[in-house]
Amino acid sequence: MIGVAESGRAVAPGMLGVLDVARDVLGELDLDVVLERVVEAARELSGARYGALGVLDRSRTELERFITVGVDEVARQRIGPLPTGKGVLGELITNPRPLRLADVGAHPHSYGFPPEHAPMKAFLGVPVMVGGEPFGNLYLAEKVGGEEFSEDDEHAVVRLADLAGLAIDHARRYTRVESQRVELRRTVDALDATIQIARALGGETDLERILGLVAKRGRALVSARALVIEHERAGEMVIAAAAGDVPEGLVGQRVDLHDSLAAAALRTRRTLRVDEAPNRPRFERYGLGRLGVNADAGLMVPLMFRGQGHGVLVVVDRLKGGPAFTAEDQRLLEAFAASAATAIATAETVEAERRRQTLAAAEQERARWARELHDGTLQSLASLRVGLAARLRRAPPGPLADAVSEAVAQLETDIGNLRALVTELRPAALDDVGAQAAIRNLAERARSHGLEVDLTIDLAYEHGRAPDRHTSEVETAIYRIIQESLTNATKHGEAHHATVIVEEDETTVHITIQDDGRGFDTTDKTSGFGLLGMRERAGLLDGTLEIQSTPGQGTTVNAALPARRRTAQAA
Ligand SMILES: Nc1ncnc2c1ncn2[C@@H]1O[C@H](COP(=O)(O)OP(=O)(O)OP(=O)(O)O)[C@@H](O)[C@H]1O
Ligand SMILES: [Mg+2]
Repeated sequence: MIGVAESGRAVAPGMLGVLDVARDVLGELDLDVVLERVVEAARELSGARYGALGVLDRSRTELERFITVGVDEVARQRIGPLPTGKGVLGELITNPRPLRLADVGAHPHSYGFPPEHAPMKAFLGVPVMVGGEPFGNLYLAEKVGGEEFSEDDEHAVVRLADLAGLAIDHARRYTRVESQRVELRRTVDALDATIQIARALGGETDLERILGLVAKRGRALVSARALVIEHERAGEMVIAAAAGDVPEGLVGQRVDLHDSLAAAALRTRRTLRVDEAPNRPRFERYGLGRLGVNADAGLMVPLMFRGQGHGVLVVVDRLKGGPAFTAEDQRLLEAFAASAATAIATAETVEAERRRQTLAAAEQERARWARELHDGTLQSLASLRVGLAARLRRAPPGPLADAVSEAVAQLETDIGNLRALVTELRPAALDDVGAQAAIRNLAERARSHGLEVDLTIDLAYEHGRAPDRHTSEVETAIYRIIQESLTNATKHGEAHHATVIVEEDETTVHITIQDDGRGFDTTDKTSGFGLLGMRERAGLLDGTLEIQSTPGQGTTVNAALPARRRTAQAA
């Protein structure tokens, strides 16, 4: 078959070609072609050396056909007759659920391989349903590199099997009907898009790039005028990527997490139609409509991964034969959204880990500087001051004594400033005696800068209700969130008064910082890192952070951090 992809890159036949090639052969596309493509795609997605699709016979007790990829013709001849569905292959027939094994030979139902069969250990089997009925099973064996198949492999292949079911259904019904080929082509495109996303995931863990790719591919898939991804990040719904015709500056804006249509789609875990009567006002008032996105029609599909919502895909206005999207569009987009969600969730995890390391490194760096300044600079300034003061006592009065006296006073001020800086960088109290003392110092310093602070701290450890302190990650987050909020209150809000409350219940630490400053519009874009950093810290600890502010009426920051104590880890 075809060994060179369209881009001109030479590729091994059957390795990369899959659906890139599918486009070229659509003219002769029939069921067999689709089946082969599916096996190829499954193999590529999971990194399996061998792939096969067993098609059930009418009775659905045996395999009628067995389409293999990865085994060459000579080897196939040597192995003898193709399997009909006994042993582990049969297991999937009687029990059509994904089956993932580290060693297929160790399964109680294994009945061994023919003597000439290539050795196989790692195994992944996934049923393929067509029109709600079992059609056959995808079998994958031997992950390249010799590892086991992962849960993510399983998830990806299950998704592919869903799409394959659609493609097979179409191929069976419509192969010879020209007008339906377009539909078939689109299903193959959906398969293709899924593969692309999975392929991108292989080497790509950059969340922004994945979001961009999802936006472009998804828009093309249903020929929408525009696609927007609203992504949930630490309690906020952020426009994370867009493709097509959208207003400038849209990406980076936020929509309401409570009242927007996107929030409703996430809560109900169902696709919502923008053009339906009760939905439109929410779209216009709280969602994308408010940000200048026009829509005659649209779909809002939640991005669900393992039962958890990560955001929504929004498509507006079908370009061809639109503006409304068809039920078929919806099905395609939902299948696509499922694999996109896998990619996004994986990239999120990688990104979170990266951020956690960066934050930890930054804290370490601060601590290093604090130590350096304290042990080095501060100590030598202090000894200089002691030396000068001693000379001053012995010196006769005169201009020289005056100058020395002035220098001593200056040194004392500098030492004071430097001490404050060291504390700012790394409050010793946070390391030694805990969050409460560190926060008290923080409030004290804010007072010295003219901000009246009412402080209420009720932490379980400090009051003897819990045996252990929170982990240093949690304590640092509490401290830094209050620090940033108080700094912002003074620096931007010019507040006179702030209330800080830190309390905890069984599971959660609640932090509130309220100021009486000038307030601001929280949907404005900013170049600062303070609010972003607070959100990141909360997000990385699986907590939430909410900021309420109205110009002229002060600002309230609310954070909730799940309690984590030092017992499990070294204190
Ligand atoms: N308490 C507040 N009162 C008034 N405006 C605020 C308050 N907190 C934040 N802001 C506004 O939000 C913007 C972003 O705050 P953020 O802390 O992210 O950045 P920054 O303080 O400007 O810079 P950085 O924190 O990186 O030094 C500020 O520039 C300010 O306009
Ligand atoms: Mg700030």
